[in-house]
Amino acid sequence: MKLDPFPSLQLYSDHVLLLDQRLLPFQEKYTHLTQLTELIDAIQSLAIRGAPLLGFAGLCGLYLASLQCKNQDEMDAMVSKLSNARPTAIQLSSCVDSSYAKHRHLNLKEQSFAYFSDANEYVKQMSEDSENIAKNGQELVPDASRILTHCNTGSLAMHGWGTALGVILYGSSVLGKNFQVYYTETRPLQQGLRLSSYELHRHHIDATCIADSSAAYLMKEHKIDLVITGADRIALNGDTANKIGTYMLALCAHFHHIPFYIAAPTSTIDFCAKSGKEFLIELREAHEFFNCASGKQNPPEYFKAFNPAFDVCPGDLVSAFITEKGLQQAPFNPLK
Ligand code: MRU
Repeated sequence: MKLDPFPSLQLYSDHVLLLDQRLLPFQEKYTHLTQLTELIDAIQSLAIRGAPLLGFAGLCGLYLASLQCKNQDEMDAMVSKLSNARPTAIQLSSCVDSSYAKHRHLNLKEQSFAYFSDANEYVKQMSEDSENIAKNGQELVPDASRILTHCNTGSLAMHGWGTALGVILYGSSVLGKNFQVYYTETRPLQQGLRLSSYELHRHHIDATCIADSSAAYLMKEHKIDLVITGADRIALNGDTANKIGTYMLALCAHFHHIPFYIAAPTSTIDFCAKSGKEFLIELREAHEFFNCASGKQNPPEYFKAFNPAFDVCPGDLVSAFITEKGLQQAPFNPLK
């Protein structure tokens, strides 16, 4: 199967082109952006999403900012907004902060060349890493495995194959493995139901969506052999922040003696965080939570919701980390 000829995010000399993930699977709409504020809005509203892709989005944002800003003070303010647009996924702030620190001393024209080149280098590395993750995961997913995955972690979230979904797509499309795939709906923004279904269908993989709350039942009925999810940030002790519901899946898998794997590039490891206690968890608006159940109507005034976008799965519930460098176990070496 040929990989996607129209990646979810592309950088051109005067604009960014993105596939609006909010509209999938019903509309494949590409949007041109030229302003950093538009890009930040796309990041915060999840038109662009997935931790590795957010790193690329951050570098695209630096490039747009360098074209737009009139002086370095303006640039400083914009870069800080960009870096903090979504706080849990590590690649957004790590890419923005390191590239900006490296090139801030240059004039704005020179900076724009540097960010363009960093963005292109990152995107090449992202595709290579995803291919290696997809290959390295194969020894954990034998033919005929019954696999449960969560959220969307395919090529919409990381160019190439993706991470967790990439292991499944590669095993099935390239190696001809016959998996039975279950994927969660993923409340409240339904990245599984909308986006994983879209990607699995494009790869002609027969897969079944379940409500997040059905996972324990499926495991109890002996219908799942293994679970694979992605990650937004991993601490040195293996604690992993990922889409809300991941912790619950890991607990259920542990109870039922089912292996629970995390697939992620090593750029997801936060070498400054000893444990997940140090992670900042993004909290999102109540209306988003309500919209999901109400066909987009706004909530009544009295409605309140606690809507964290991520949770933290303890490292000792993770059977192995599937990375571009091979299968790894926590704790990770703080010296890289
Ligand atoms: O809020 P989202 O949709 O950006 O969350 C995405 C996830 O939690 C993914 O599992 C993670 O970013 C890995 S994507 C390869």
